[in-house]
Amino acid sequence: MLASFLALLSLGTIAAADLTVYQSGTGALASGWENWSWSTTLDFASTGGPGGVQSISVNSGEWAALSVYAETAFKNNYAGLRFQISGNQPDVSLYLSSSSDSASSVSMPLSSMSTIVNTTAFTEITVDFGNLPGNKGVLPQDSCQNGATYYLTNVMLLSELVITPEFLSAEPIGNNIIMVTSKGAVDFSKLSVKLNNATAKLTKIESYSPADTPAQTITYFTLSVPLAAGSLSISTGSNTTFSFVIPKLQYGTITIGNLRNISDDIYGMNFPTSADYIKLLGITMSRWGGNAVTAYNPDGAFTNAGNDWYFENRGSSPDDQGWLQFVQDGGSRSIFTIPALDWVAKDGTSYSYPATAYPDQRSFDPYKPDAGDGQFPNGSWVTPLPQTNVYTPWNASMAKSWMQSMKLKPTIITVDNEIEIASSTHQDMHPNPMGYDEELQRVLNIAKAAKSADSNLLVAAPSTCAWWFYWTSEIGYSDNAAHNNQDFLPWFLSQMKSASDAAGERLLDYLDIHYYFGPDTSANDAASKALRLRMTRSFWDPTYTDESWIGTSVPAQWNEPNPNQVWLIPRFQQLIAQHFPGTKLSISEWSSSAPDGDVTGGLVTADSLGIFGVYGLDSATYWVTADQLSPVGLAYWLFRGNGTYFGNKSIQVNMADSQPDVLGVYASTSDGKKVTMVIVNKDVVPINLAISNIPEGKYFLRHFGGAAGVAKWQTTITIKANSNFVIPAYTAVFFQQQ
Ligand SMILES: *[C@@H]1O[C@H](CO)[C@@H](O)[C@H](O)[C@H]1NC(C)=O
Ligand SMILES: *[C@@H]1O[C@H](CO)[C@@H](O)[C@H](O)[C@H]1NC(C)=O
Ligand SMILES: *[C@@H]1O[C@H](CO)[C@@H](O)[C@H](O)[C@H]1NC(C)=O
Ligand SMILES: *[C@@H]1O[C@H](CO)[C@@H](O)[C@H](O)[C@H]1NC(C)=O
Ligand SMILES: *[C@@H]1O[C@H](CO)[C@@H](O)[C@H](O)[C@H]1NC(C)=O
Ligand SMILES: *[C@@H]1O[C@H](CO)[C@@H](O)[C@H](O)[C@H]1NC(C)=O
Ligand SMILES: *[C@@H]1O[C@H](CO)[C@@H](O)[C@H](O)[C@H]1NC(C)=O
Ligand SMILES: *[C@@H]1O[C@H](CO)[C@@H](O)[C@H](O)[C@H]1NC(C)=O
Ligand SMILES: *[C@@H]1O[C@H](CO)[C@@H](O)[C@H](O)[C@H]1NC(C)=O
Repeated sequence: MLASFLALLSLGTIAAADLTVYQSGTGALASGWENWSWSTTLDFASTGGPGGVQSISVNSGEWAALSVYAETAFKNNYAGLRFQISGNQPDVSLYLSSSSDSASSVSMPLSSMSTIVNTTAFTEITVDFGNLPGNKGVLPQDSCQNGATYYLTNVMLLSELVITPEFLSAEPIGNNIIMVTSKGAVDFSKLSVKLNNATAKLTKIESYSPADTPAQTITYFTLSVPLAAGSLSISTGSNTTFSFVIPKLQYGTITIGNLRNISDDIYGMNFPTSADYIKLLGITMSRWGGNAVTAYNPDGAFTNAGNDWYFENRGSSPDDQGWLQFVQDGGSRSIFTIPALDWVAKDGTSYSYPATAYPDQRSFDPYKPDAGDGQFPNGSWVTPLPQTNVYTPWNASMAKSWMQSMKLKPTIITVDNEIEIASSTHQDMHPNPMGYDEELQRVLNIAKAAKSADSNLLVAAPSTCAWWFYWTSEIGYSDNAAHNNQDFLPWFLSQMKSASDAAGERLLDYLDIHYYFGPDTSANDAASKALRLRMTRSFWDPTYTDESWIGTSVPAQWNEPNPNQVWLIPRFQQLIAQHFPGTKLSISEWSSSAPDGDVTGGLVTADSLGIFGVYGLDSATYWVTADQLSPVGLAYWLFRGNGTYFGNKSIQVNMADSQPDVLGVYASTSDGKKVTMVIVNKDVVPINLAISNIPEGKYFLRHFGGAAGVAKWQTTITIKANSNFVIPAYTAVFFQQQ
């Protein structure tokens, strides 16, 4: 993810006027600025960008940066930084740091500043130093740190930021609230509202600028009359008017007496970046997983990227203990991968398919040209060199010693990661396809090692990658046939039960699967977004035919009911009840399938977190490391942000017309009395709900999404008996009784 960044290193003197760093046409950094870049190919006089505008062309490797340095103070003496950038939304981040001490800003992903950076035009971005997030960033660890290519021009430190006052949006929310987002010193005095042609009065409640959201302010107003179906028009007094059609009421009810526990562990994340991140998003379960840690060697903290990145070894920072430490400091439990193949990385630098040994490969690492992808140009695998070139042997007794010796131990261990597809992800160390028996044996070996190392360690397995492999193996249906035609995971559960019975102890605490939605929404047009937002039904709905190959094909040797419906959580709860009762269900990888920065990803995530609670999922961790201010990060913030949590008991909700394609309604309580709700409006128009039994009173309200782009906001509102509740398009709200 974090591929490269622009760093401004600085020191010293006082600033007065704007300071140019680079200006188009000069072909060089401005006087006083030095190139301190690393692992980056630069041309300071490139005309390769859009329109032939002269710019700096940047071609960065992994963990690389365009970095420029000057002896000039920035934070206290400049108001902001302005630059123009072009590229295919390059995965870069910006940070500023001082070379006189170790102070540095948080690392700000470009996606948090703009999501429309493209190759056809330069996009101008202004960073307001007054709005820099306060907390310090830590570099995220990830298995796919790629490089980036982009053009940058007209970079300037600004002595003063002139923010043109602007109304960005004005929308209805709740029973009688109008929320207005704005930039700069707008004049609210001419704001007026007409509801069904009648003028309504506005009373300002408060203005709010989140500490960690740049530049925008939201101001909440109470309307003198309740919102109602019909036309709403909000005029700012200048020539901007925001108009809405508030639809007719949809009725529903909540039943507070009817409670079901919500597992605390469903609000999990793969590789959270720091203890602060965990606290701010309320992450409860943190996973150390993914393809690279299949080869994790605790003796030196090395991994191997496998087929994700040219089978290269790398160093892991932090190491397992450093990681478990900050996870614990953040207050999160952990789910942690223990390797179960026969090898782990021997160092941080070797790779399996050197060009010097195999010149004829399909591709090579552009940033390390000697490392090949292990495939001939015709797609056949290259026979790997002896594993000892890159790896060192590993076995279950070594895993046991390691787990015994860990000072900080994980809560749950998983037996490797997607081990069933090791012959492609880790072809270099396990070239032969894995079958039922081998996988079971490897799980048993590590599960027994874990239980004997520390009986408190919970075991999750087999972390199967996808729908296809839930039911068969890489060997294929001959393997099912050799096992009484039983589908893989049901067979696996029965075998784990027999083995546990024989061992006199439970060897499997969680059935762990990975789940990525089947439908292809990569076009990201209106139809794909609507599909993405309704496919959360695959988690629970027995009537939802999956809108992917799963919904249209029935493998001949497949024994499960409802073959075209995923019906994921109830399906696996039933299989567990049938084959190994008492086993919990974990989904240690799942994803919204949305591009970073797209609000639909946040709405899918919020809807999914609600569903996990209602359907009694035991544990879940998102893949992978959502940026704190991205839509996905905001979905976690919505449920659990900064110490205010969704309830831990689910309240039954009944909607007259449930409309799961476009609406998610989730209700909860922690004390059996006070209510917390999350409502996700997945539609492109507002909704107007009348939900009975919501207790009257003051509620803390927070929300993200809406017309002002992806933004997060919070206030306090009053809900009256039988209040209706309006939620704008593409918005998720959380409200908690005070
Ligand atoms: C900028 O600095 C980097 C790192 O020292 C170097 O590799 C690169 O060639 C320099 N680029 C230019 C155009 O000076
Ligand atoms: C490309 O960037 C320009 C400049 O920011 C912007 O006006 C344009 O809408 C962008 N195009 C797309 C397709 O996002
Ligand atoms: C509001 O006024 C418009 C134009 O004057 C009219 O067409 C519309 O019917 C009115 N709506 C209501 C609800 O009265
Ligand atoms: C109306 O909008 C135009 C263009 O954005 C602007 O120049 C003008 O000042 C605005 N008029 C008023 C009254 O705000
Ligand atoms: C719900 O949680 C409570 C408190 O942890 C526990 O006592 C109870 O057994 C749980 N109920 C079920 C059905 O798991
Ligand atoms: C692919 O190319 C390699 C190397 O030339 C060769 O050994 C192999 O047989 C080829 N595989 C196929 C399926 O043609
Ligand atoms: C595991 O590897 C260690 C170190 O090479 C070796 O001493 C031990 O015998 C092996 N254990 C098993 C069960 O193979
Ligand atoms: C989190 O809450 C604390 C205490 O209420 C507050 O000071 C802080 O600003 C909040 N942080 C964010 C990012 O909202
Ligand atoms: C639910 O939350 C309440 C209030 O925070 C807490 O007292 C209770 O222990 C929690 N119950 C469970 C089962 O976590």
